[in-house]
Amino acid sequence: MASRPELQAPPEIFYNDDEARKYTSSSRIIDIQAKLSERALELLALPDDDVPRLLLDIGCGSGLSGETLTEHGHHWIGLDISGSMLNVALEREAEGDLILGDMGQGLGVRPGVIDGAISISAVQWLCNADRSSHEPRLRLKAFFGSLYRCLARGARAVLQVYPENLAQRELILGSAMRAGFSGGVVVDFPHSTKTRKEFLVLTCGPASLSSATPQAKGEDGESCSDDEDISGDEENQSVLVSDRHRPRKKHKLNKKVKGKEWVMEKKEKMRRKGNTVPADSKYTARKRKTRF
Ligand SMILES: C[S@@+](CC[C@H](N)C(=O)[O-])C[C@H]1O[C@@H](n2cnc3c(N)ncnc32)[C@H](O)[C@@H]1O
Repeated sequence: MASRPELQAPPEIFYNDDEARKYTSSSRIIDIQAKLSERALELLALPDDDVPRLLLDIGCGSGLSGETLTEHGHHWIGLDISGSMLNVALEREAEGDLILGDMGQGLGVRPGVIDGAISISAVQWLCNADRSSHEPRLRLKAFFGSLYRCLARGARAVLQVYPENLAQRELILGSAMRAGFSGGVVVDFPHSTKTRKEFLVLTCGPASLSSATPQAKGEDGESCSDDEDISGDEENQSVLVSDRHRPRKKHKLNKKVKGKEWVMEKKEKMRRKGNTVPADSKYTARKRKTRF
């Protein structure tokens, strides 16, 4: 079994000139990335109105996933940390606007302008600490926070990921939920070791009917080819579909309320001590709104 690329070197080093070229000239990889991008676009569930949307491709690499977005008539902005991958994207005349950047430091895109985001085989890289200054939890927080901000309200992000284990999957999903997303994980072909694919399907905003997690493929015996694994070692975890939303801040219950009588007594005490105390008025000890 091939070792996971994330364990071999940081992404900007692993995807050097040689690897970028090898990656982009493999017909097997081209085929798999195209299928994954098609599925991500399907799960994005954009309105069926032939209107081109502005989409984000996170970890766009050499533009294989972006090509699918172009074929469907959308505009896209691609972000990647590997200059070599982006150079190949330029050579291939990818239609998207390309940004050289680290998603772990935030996306740097204007708030609320993106109609949808996809990411194919990239986000699991954030679970690795490549430098002493890297803390995966904080990098995921920066990533999901900026993704949430740049998406239009109600827009979706579909992230196809290869988590190494259950802990990584929970780390990624938990970070997304804490950023405010609702949604969950769709696992296609859960019973196939090789074809099994996981998609985080996230909606920007609280859970609603439109943010319900879509149906996975392959659970009803739908056929799949078993030669699609390019992720390296993969554990065959059970299907995980969750639908959570950001927990409300906990309010302290049974907190003893200090009423007007208590406030007046306290003010009187302060006056007796010689302190300057505001005069009593109709606003003294009035009830305030508990939240905005
Ligand atoms: C397997 S490739 C996928 C590329 C493209 N999405 C495709 O479908 O062909 C993973 C990509 O994620 C990028 N990547 C990994 N970590 C990243 C980070 N922190 N910020 C931006 N891109 C990153 C890598 O440079 C690489 O191009």
